[in-house]
Amino acid sequence: MKRIHILLLLPMMIVACLNELSPAMPDEEETTLKKAVGHHFLIGTTLNNAIVNGRDPASDRVVKRHFNAITHGYAMKFAMLHPAEGRYLFDESDAFVRYGEQNGMTVIGHCLVWHKQLPDWVVRDKDGNLVTPEALKARMREHISTVVGRYRGRVKGWDVVNEAFLEDGSYRQSPYYEILGEEFIPLAFQYAHEADPDAELYYNDGNMAVTKRREAVVRLIGQLKARGLRIDAVGMQAHVSMNFPKVENFEKSIQAFADAGVKVMITEWDMTALPTTDTGSDGRPLTPEELDPYPEKMPDSASQAWNARMKQFFDLFVKYSDVVTRVTVWGVSDIDSWLNDFPFPGRTDYPLLFDREYQPKTFVREILGEE
Ligand code: XIL
Repeated sequence: MKRIHILLLLPMMIVACLNELSPAMPDEEETTLKKAVGHHFLIGTTLNNAIVNGRDPASDRVVKRHFNAITHGYAMKFAMLHPAEGRYLFDESDAFVRYGEQNGMTVIGHCLVWHKQLPDWVVRDKDGNLVTPEALKARMREHISTVVGRYRGRVKGWDVVNEAFLEDGSYRQSPYYEILGEEFIPLAFQYAHEADPDAELYYNDGNMAVTKRREAVVRLIGQLKARGLRIDAVGMQAHVSMNFPKVENFEKSIQAFADAGVKVMITEWDMTALPTTDTGSDGRPLTPEELDPYPEKMPDSASQAWNARMKQFFDLFVKYSDVVTRVTVWGVSDIDSWLNDFPFPGRTDYPLLFDREYQPKTFVREILGEE
């Protein structure tokens, strides 16, 4: 009797076991970027306050499904964190770091020293004159040790200095440079390391496929290393466009940074589908229609070209996956890209991996194995 009973149950038990293993379970079947590329590198995106605070559930779903690393697009910049002397606003950055921890994501800090989104009080006195080197050093040290120290052990790595060089390889004439000269970079790395000796430290910049800037960054890596300062990686922003840069020049920069002894992170990847200057190749000013050519939808031919070029960059990152340890896109869906307002406000751009319906673009579907 007992034996018959078990025999009758057996088929049901087998079906139950198969169901457990079967990819028909929605979660297991789900294709995700982090599953598809996680063996190559971390795959990251930026958050904004609406996502962090639960006011944008559509983006939140995409972030949690596809990405395992996060950067906040603005909450950790100087002006947001520390708008006035002695006044810190940590609510948004605290919530951002918690979001990462609750979802098992690698949290990246962006950024400690940058000439933009930098409040005047840091570098100028009340008469508008630049402050002394000693005053700026003290402010930098205090800011960096407070911010990096607060997230010690929780933020995996920091963009310590952002955009210090011009494309001709010279130092940008930022207030930091004007006051402290070249020394502001090693000082920033030193202060960050003192505040969290285990945090990774990065130098971050854009348009680094340009030879002179590439060379300047290689020199900087050498100088920091020669002084025994920690630098783990160069962050290549990778705000690229349809005709700039050449993929092979981008590749040369990855190689050059790897040869200089650091890892490479793609930190702000997006590709505008729109004109990046307001004049045509003949110098004629572009009309409003030419500047914003796809207010409703990208035509198929433009979209195919965009996807093909993005795939070329992606394949390049994979080719160097022993060097490239993270690829972060600068935003979740096209709706929220900063490029809708930069360099000209109020346009409709298509620069990210997910469209305005939060669906993956064609080349992303290929990566996911859905095409
Ligand atoms: C942009 C953000 O996306 C915007 O939300 C913000 O208002 C301005 O800055 N290089 C960088 C980023 O290092 O911090 C910039 O982010 C884009 C260019």
